[in-house]
Amino acid sequence: MKLSIEEAAQSILKGEVVAVPTETVYGLAASIRRRKAIEKIFSLKGRPVDNPLIVHVSTYVQLKRLTKSIPSTFQKIKSFWPGPLTVVLPANKRAVPKIVRAGLDTVAIRMPDHFLLYKLIMKTGPLAAPSANLSGRPSPTKVRHIYQDLGMDFPVLKGGPCLHGVESTVIRLLDDGSWQHLRPGMISKEQLIQALGCEPDQDFAQEKPRSPGSKYRHYAPKAKLIFCEKSGDIKKFSQKPRVDGVLGFDTTRTPLPVISLGGRNHFKDNLKRLYESLRDLDEAGYQKVLVDGVFERQGLGRTLYERLKKACAG
Ligand code: TXA
Ligand code: MG
Repeated sequence: MKLSIEEAAQSILKGEVVAVPTETVYGLAASIRRRKAIEKIFSLKGRPVDNPLIVHVSTYVQLKRLTKSIPSTFQKIKSFWPGPLTVVLPANKRAVPKIVRAGLDTVAIRMPDHFLLYKLIMKTGPLAAPSANLSGRPSPTKVRHIYQDLGMDFPVLKGGPCLHGVESTVIRLLDDGSWQHLRPGMISKEQLIQALGCEPDQDFAQEKPRSPGSKYRHYAPKAKLIFCEKSGDIKKFSQKPRVDGVLGFDTTRTPLPVISLGGRNHFKDNLKRLYESLRDLDEAGYQKVLVDGVFERQGLGRTLYERLKKACAG
């Protein structure tokens, strides 16, 4: 169900949940001041309550109000805002309800780069919003994906297909100047190292996940995915019984049908197509699919690798 900005703002102020566009993926938004609406986000998605939400802001005044303190290193990454970078900071606990933070002392904040969402937040104030998929499903990059997961009647502020198609990078800044890389995303680790002048203290690959969401299975289609690390693997695994196709690139060589993410190592394009392609596998009724995992593991290639590995872990 399509809403205008005015209708979306009214609904949110009344305590409803509305799907909203961002430059990364669609979000499921509620006012951080509406407890019932926040609870509804968790129940709609089937999201574990120990997985905190990102708070979306449109001004630095809002950022200040939501945080207890802001490490000086924030200045070094400010140029990524508005944009696909989420920053975990010490929370102002009175301003950010416990349920949004999942009981942590910190709050994840991001200033999205999307004109409609900017206008909406100016009317509603800060919005808590996870991606607008059911937990475990690929994040929605188009309105029809929201309808697939939440039904045709779900209220949506439509903003067309998302620019990036994959979520923001999540980092934590600490008072001592160090930082943690909690979730790879649209801003690469290399970009962050350059901006912050040092390697992260913690990386997302670490055993104990610091970003609670990273411990859950994610981004998975219904089809069983088999990750093929080496160039000979596709040919080898094609001999397995009942393999329906390959999620790969324009240059993937196989007699099986290929759902292509575009050119190999063209990561922006690959990431933009990724979640929709995972949904396409299910729509095509595929049961078992090989994933072409032969690509560079640096820059946004790291993000592609992490998302594909998670999809395969399902
Ligand atoms: O691009 C995005 O980030 C999208 C759009 C809608 O903004 N949002 C998104 O939200 O991906 P979600 O809920 O699907 O993922 C948020 C991630 C989770 O892994 C969560 O655990 C982590 O951020 N997170 C949230 N608050 C945190 C905190 N205080 N400390 C550590 N991690 C946190
Ligand atoms: Mg998500």
